[in-house]
Amino acid sequence: MLSSVSVIGLGKLGAPMAACFAASGFSVHAVDVNPQKLEAISRGVPPVHEPGLAELLAESGGRLSATNDIEAAVSASDATFVVVATPSEPDGGFSLRYAIPTCESIGRALRTMSAYHVVVITSTVMPGSTGGQIKSALERSSGKLCGAGFGLCYNPEFIALGTVIRDFYHPDFLLIGESDSRAGDALSEIYKRTCKNTPAIARMNWINAEITKLAVNTYITTKISYANMLARLCEKLPEADVNVVTDALGLDTRIGAKYLKGAVSYGGPCFPRDNRALAALASRVGASSGLAEATDIFNRAQIKSLADVVRSHRSESGAIGILGLTYKPDTDVVEESFGLLLALELSSANLPVIVYDPSADAARALNNCKNIRVASSAQECIAESRVVVLATPWQEFRDLRAALWARPGYSEPRVVIDCWRALSHLDGIEGLRYVKLGFGGAAKKPVSVSSSAD
Ligand SMILES: NC(=O)c1ccc[n+]([C@@H]2O[C@H](COP(=O)([O-])OP(=O)(O)OC[C@H]3O[C@@H](n4cnc5c(N)ncnc54)[C@H](O)[C@@H]3O)[C@@H](O)[C@H]2O)c1
Repeated sequence: MLSSVSVIGLGKLGAPMAACFAASGFSVHAVDVNPQKLEAISRGVPPVHEPGLAELLAESGGRLSATNDIEAAVSASDATFVVVATPSEPDGGFSLRYAIPTCESIGRALRTMSAYHVVVITSTVMPGSTGGQIKSALERSSGKLCGAGFGLCYNPEFIALGTVIRDFYHPDFLLIGESDSRAGDALSEIYKRTCKNTPAIARMNWINAEITKLAVNTYITTKISYANMLARLCEKLPEADVNVVTDALGLDTRIGAKYLKGAVSYGGPCFPRDNRALAALASRVGASSGLAEATDIFNRAQIKSLADVVRSHRSESGAIGILGLTYKPDTDVVEESFGLLLALELSSANLPVIVYDPSADAARALNNCKNIRVASSAQECIAESRVVVLATPWQEFRDLRAALWARPGYSEPRVVIDCWRALSHLDGIEGLRYVKLGFGGAAKKPVSVSSSAD
């Protein structure tokens, strides 16, 4: 029975994974090149921001050890998960510049091991990588044949930051690309002991698993963009409400309700780059990449389009407040986030912007940017703005008292632009004008349907 695993790369995904395995009873060797992360793990402190991680580390009961020595970790375990970064390349593909040296070190350990070992690539890689450069690096440095001397699986995770632990323990399904059935069986066994549900397991060869990983995220980005397209349409039509439209759409089981919110551009560390990677793959092999490219172009265009809505509500003077810079609540990640990109778009047009995010790390991303000031609280951000945009629906913003948003006694009320329709309690409050995106009237001048049809 497998009892010990190594996790190499203790970032936003790897650190929670290592803790989940340890809390599930595995002895875990957690590896990173970053000494601060190793020190944090050794002290039982989360090396990354993720809700629930501190509690999980406390539950791991001494089963989690940290090291920078890949070979020692692999030699002491039955399976090794590779979760190092795979940065995007200029054309949208993923670089293996950290994964290949990692695999070479794993291979050196495998060379001297007699026990069976399965290497699991969890990092997102371009289709063709597992059976290409990764397998070659492992075989070269181990002197063993993949499938005979060791097993190799591609096993990406479908988790969202902020809910990594819940998602890891309760996956919709598991995706396993395997060198052979022994490797796939070993990995399935690990998940049987880790998952708190009984997910379907899609087992297949490497290339199909690699394509599936990108295909899942590209489908979701397309669905989000579709809902955003409907939101922008509804904003132009009196009495239209994207919630009503998408709630009904979601009842159709061919469509489903998830990711149909109709709000702002998607961001974060996975969706934009997985979508672009699928487009890059298609264009590298001479297949049509148009659909994935259109989604990316549409998504980027959301920033400008929503900046125009904000501008349309701004009077001559006064700052624009942006609440929320992270790409979603409960994370500190600002990669390609709507709030951050909106702040940059408005400030580049020389408009004064004040931002606030509950994550101090997120807010630091905009320190020292021209025309942008970082407020120290949501109240300060609101108080100093004429127009306030709810860019990320953190609970902290939903919980603010209605009176804090208002500007009573002034000829011009404060405009609150709610991108997520999360602040409906503000509707009708004196001293503010509440604008819901996705709702007829959000664009200030809705079009009359009958006159445009005449
Ligand atoms: N973050 C997510 O939401 C998410 C979701 C699904 C898949 N992924 C994929 O998982 C992989 C990791 O993503 P992440 O967000 O955790 O990245 P990250 O940048 O947060 O963490 C990567 C970690 O790998 C470490 N590292 C780099 N080279 C190393 C080496 N040679 N040896 C040991 N450690 C090394 C880094 O120090 C860092 O701690 C990527 O391929 C990503 O696409 C991430």
